[in-house]
Amino acid sequence: MSTISPPRSPALATLEFDHLELWVGNAKQAAHYYCTAFGFAPLAYAGPETGVKDAASYVVRQNDLTLVLTSALVPGSPIAEHVKRHGDGVRDVALRTSDAREAFTASVAGGAVPLAEPAVAEDEHGVVVTARIATYGDTVHTFVERGTYRGPWLPGYRPWSALMPTENEVGLVRIDHCVGNVGWGEMDRWCAYYAKAFGFTQLIGFDDKDISTEFTALRSKVMQSPSGKVKMPINEPAEGLKRSQIEEYLDFYGGPGIQHVAIATNDIVETVRALRGNGVELLETPASYYEKLADRVGVIAEDLAILRGLNILVDRDDQGYMLQIFTKPLQDRPTMFFEIIQRRGSLSFGKGNFKALFVSIEQEQAKRGNL
Ligand code: FE2
Repeated sequence: MSTISPPRSPALATLEFDHLELWVGNAKQAAHYYCTAFGFAPLAYAGPETGVKDAASYVVRQNDLTLVLTSALVPGSPIAEHVKRHGDGVRDVALRTSDAREAFTASVAGGAVPLAEPAVAEDEHGVVVTARIATYGDTVHTFVERGTYRGPWLPGYRPWSALMPTENEVGLVRIDHCVGNVGWGEMDRWCAYYAKAFGFTQLIGFDDKDISTEFTALRSKVMQSPSGKVKMPINEPAEGLKRSQIEEYLDFYGGPGIQHVAIATNDIVETVRALRGNGVELLETPASYYEKLADRVGVIAEDLAILRGLNILVDRDDQGYMLQIFTKPLQDRPTMFFEIIQRRGSLSFGKGNFKALFVSIEQEQAKRGNL
């Protein structure tokens, strides 16, 4: 099923998630929300005080997971226009590489759309090289070559600490995968883009028979980087009786974009308890999901009654199993949400959970009057 092709460039072979940048309406408040609700800690800041006149960026971190939250300070800036069109959302899925120049050159030679040529930024902590290419919708990938850079974040940022709890960690560790929604019939074109531009290969695919409910359906393919560290599933809507959740996303986001970010934890029960304690809204799972669960997944280390009480999903493949749960959308528009995932051997994406997830989302969609 998984065929990792030889990388076309050593720099693309080293790709891994570096950070996500969200463009939001109010970065100061968003930073506070991600810290208090999701257990991130303040790390760095850039804005007028550091010489940036038209934007403010707050960097928050938990283990190997870093978010940059950026807002426009003036009307008419590209950030303000992005927020006007999309609402709060992921602008940049930044990818770390050993060589940003080579990653840029190789990906553009493979058909990637260039947005920013390689650029060097420097301060007293060292040098960072970045370059940027486009992907679906208004979403971008910035290549980040950190080399031996030793600063808290990137040149241009200053350390930032805020008056909020610092011992608030909930066990979020790193990005596991990052899922995009694209328009009707566009999935294969974007999968080919990742294959040609970055040497990604398809790990697994789900057709509309795998992921359908009574009312709606979607198709999905999981693309992964040569190293396997960057997994970028891509969804498209499929014909159904009613408007699918992918269409709802596309309508409210104003086009393709990041649908959800899956974050790995080493103890999903403790993470979910902490998130609930912090007031994070999580999707509920239909009670019927748990009825035949023991037959479906066999022996697992966790107590099924506890998983059921916390609405945690379980799925198994030939290598092991995984536990998952999904938040409700993280902003008022029914667009981006988080998945929390704990892998116990399984490296793939469970078919059974996919369907359970989409039934749960569809119930929320119906409450919004968008089904
Ligand atoms: Fe996912």
